[in-house]
Formats: sequence, C-alpha cells, structure tokens
Amino acid sequence: MLSSTLKRISLPSTCSRIQKQVNHLITLADLSKAQIHRLLMNAAQHKYNVKYEDKPSSKPLEGKSVALIFSKRSTRTRVASETATAYLGGHPMFLGSQDIQMGVNESLLDTSVVVSSMVSGIMARVGAHEEILELAKNSTVPVVNALTDKYHPTQILADLLTLHEVYSKNHTDSKAPYSAHVVHPEKTLPGLKVAWIGDANNILHSMMVTLPKLGLHLSAATPSKYHPDDDVLNIAKKEAAKSNTELVFTSSPLEAINGADVIVTDTWVSMGQEAEKAQRLKEFSGYQVTMDMIKQGNANKDWKFLHCLPRKPEEVDDEVFYSQNSLVFQEAENRKWTILAVFEALFANGKFES
Ligand code: CP
Ligand code: NVA
Repeated sequence: MLSSTLKRISLPSTCSRIQKQVNHLITLADLSKAQIHRLLMNAAQHKYNVKYEDKPSSKPLEGKSVALIFSKRSTRTRVASETATAYLGGHPMFLGSQDIQMGVNESLLDTSVVVSSMVSGIMARVGAHEEILELAKNSTVPVVNALTDKYHPTQILADLLTLHEVYSKNHTDSKAPYSAHVVHPEKTLPGLKVAWIGDANNILHSMMVTLPKLGLHLSAATPSKYHPDDDVLNIAKKEAAKSNTELVFTSSPLEAINGADVIVTDTWVSMGQEAEKAQRLKEFSGYQVTMDMIKQGNANKDWKFLHCLPRKPEEVDDEVFYSQNSLVFQEAENRKWTILAVFEALFANGKFES
C-alpha cells in the first residue's frame, strides 16, 4: 500500500497542517454513553422536525463541503450522507474509487492532507481499518468512518435509534405518532437482550463496543472458527463488567436467541471476502435465521429483527426478513437521521456534545 511507505515522513510546515486536536468518529468505543445518547436524541429531533413538523434546517453547513470518499460500494451510507449534508446546507462531494487518485496513484497520507485542506469534513469507506486511521491521522478536519473491515459505527447508531423509537412508545401516554425525541434512551435501551447470529464481522464488533456500554445484553452465535478480534473482545468485556450486562459467545444460534428481544444478522460474506464465498456458505450452514429457529430458541414474544442491509437470503429467510417483527427498512432510513446528527456534531460544531 502506497501509504505505508510514507507513514513516518514529517510534513513540511508549509503544508499548513494544523496541530490542533481534531475530533473524529472512527469507532463508537471512543464515545461516552452520554455522547451516544445525545446523538440519538439529536437524530430523533431532526427526524421529528422534518417528518412531523415540516420545520426547516438551520443549515449549519452552509457554504461548506463534505468529502465522501468511498472505496467500496454503498447504497444506504452514501444516500444518507449526501442527503444529510444537503439538509444541513452543505455540499456533498462524492469521491468513488474510480474518481480520485487515492490508493492507485497517490497515498492515503497525501490524499488526506490535500482533501482536508479544502473541505469541512470527510466521510470515508475504506478496506483495512488501518486506512481510516491513516486518513484521520493526517486530516485537518474531522473524519467519520463509513465502514472498514473492523467497524461500522454509524450503522449501530441507526440500529439504536430504531430500537429507541420502537420502545419509546411504551414510555409515553401521548398518542402522538412519534415520541423518540421526547423520551431519553436511558429509559428504552438498558436491559434489552440482543442476539447476533452469523459472522464475527465489522457489525458485530461495532455492537460489542457499544451495546454493553449502553446497558444492553449481547449474546452472539458464530461458527467456532469465526471469532471477534481480541482487542474488541477486551473492550466489550470491560464495558459489560461496568454496566453489569451479559456478554455471551456461543456457536449455538438457539442458545443465543433464548430470551432475546432483538435478533440481528448480516451477510456471511462481507465486501472484500468474495474469494471465500463458497467456503463461508458451507461453514455458516445452520445459521440462517428462520421462524423455526426463533421459535425453537425461545425468543421473547415481541422479538424484533434487525439487519444492516444489503441482505442475502442465505443469512435470513423471507418469512423473517419481511415479517411484522422486522425493522429493517426503518433501520435503513435511520442511517440518514443518525449520520445527520454525527455530521452536525463534527462537521458543523467540531465535537460531540454530551
Ligand atoms: N448498511 C450499509 O452500510 O449499507 P450500504 O453498504 O448500502 O451503505
Ligand atoms: N459486513 C458488511 C456490512 C455491509 C454494510 C460488509 O462489510 O460488507
């Protein structure tokens, strides 16, 4: 990789790299519980303003540009980022892998210095997690992780907002169609049991560093060959000990589902793993989420289903995916409101509030 050969070079001061502290969103492990709550409340407020009040945005990004560097395909993250930037009054500049020099003719370091000198924020979807760290290290503006092979932080914010919306209905007497902006997530999220069935991938990693911190229980079933990364496991264990929540890893989907309020899965073949597809399909046999699995596993009566999408039928059948219990399309829309809250915090205000 071009970037690694240049990693230790000190840049000339004429490059005007500002020495001030720049805040980024690389993983939700770096945010406090209060900061995550604040993002969820702000996201819910924006959703309410737009969908139920028709209230215009204050356009905090007016006159500013946001670079959307995407080395991999995207539907939700791209549409959410472009529409969120436009709503905040800014100009979203999509830079796909065919558009810019990064990784082909130019290092990540040089790309980061150059792009960040002209924009107010960078949203970047890259391959290896080290690549987002390299972009962030050399950027003079905040960088948001739009997915790496290790973490997908903005996805988990959308998942949490979706659950918060569903369960906030139990915490208000009002018959109003939307209540997530007036109920605190501390009332809705703690105590929920989330069951993960599938690969130990970027989505599970992101849940591991976030759910225990917010007081949710997490039980993950993966084939025994597929483990989460050790450093992620250590963070999750510490958070679970602090919040006194359950954190269980098993190879039995039925064990993971027992008593679950929420069942989650994702593709067995993440972007970049296409060469392993045939082997993975074999090794994940028995992990498809079905009604039968959910019944046999004894999920809670009102169980919900989440999937970050895009979905392939092998990991979850149509009956579950399109069921009344499935929240997948609400979850997809919530990518926009949560990314909007992140961009407002970092690209307009420069920091996360708590
Ligand atoms: N969930 C998600 O990140 O979807 P995209 O890959 O379409 O952005
Ligand atoms: N685990 C998937 C998530 C896609 C949003 C991937 O990395 O491809």
